[in-house]
Amino acid sequence: MDSAQVLHLTLDGPEATRALGAQLAAAAEPGDAICLVGPLGAGKTTLVDGCARAMGAAPARSPTFVLAHRYDGGRLRIWHLDLYRLDDPAQVADLDLAQYFERSAVTLVEWADRAPHELPADALRIVLEVAPPGRRATIQASGPASQALLERLAAPHRRSEAAGMTTA
Ligand SMILES: Nc1ncnc2c1ncn2[C@@H]1O[C@H](COP(=O)(O)OP(=O)(O)OP(=O)(O)O)[C@@H](O)[C@H]1O
Ligand SMILES: [Mg+2]
Repeated sequence: MDSAQVLHLTLDGPEATRALGAQLAAAAEPGDAICLVGPLGAGKTTLVDGCARAMGAAPARSPTFVLAHRYDGGRLRIWHLDLYRLDDPAQVADLDLAQYFERSAVTLVEWADRAPHELPADALRIVLEVAPPGRRATIQASGPASQALLERLAAPHRRSEAAGMTTA
């Protein structure tokens, strides 16, 4: 797969969004960053929930920064950032978002487009669109780690395409 490759998926309902989260949990390696982009109600939190459950991780003691949630006890620590309330670039810079991209964790960021300069350059980008009655996901990589993650994530889908099932 070359770096321009895109994975398109149709998510028929919330369970399909959770299943994509579970596939991410299985495919993620320590240090992976995942940007979630899409309008209100697109399914970003549902995807994180599916990822945390499949990872076997539970919410940890609330960190001081209310926009960051930590899930521990699973195969990998999960950081879940939700940047929805950030609209002032100066505020974004003050938050030191880099601290949430630990080498030992996987970090998922809702409303990632609110802090384009503070997030890792190499991150998997998942764009969720509302496509009634379900959602559409467009998944792309932007560097070597996210490309490797995309390939691990895409492998089962490519196999089902080869078997005659559709992914989009
Ligand atoms: N594939 C899907 N098809 C239909 N409904 C879905 C799908 N995935 C999630 N939903 C539903 O969409 C609603 C919104 O989901 P969710 O809260 O995850 O969105 P969000 O992107 O996090 O929203 P926000 O921007 O407000 O944080 C929920 O009711 C959820 O069950
Ligand atoms: Mg949300």
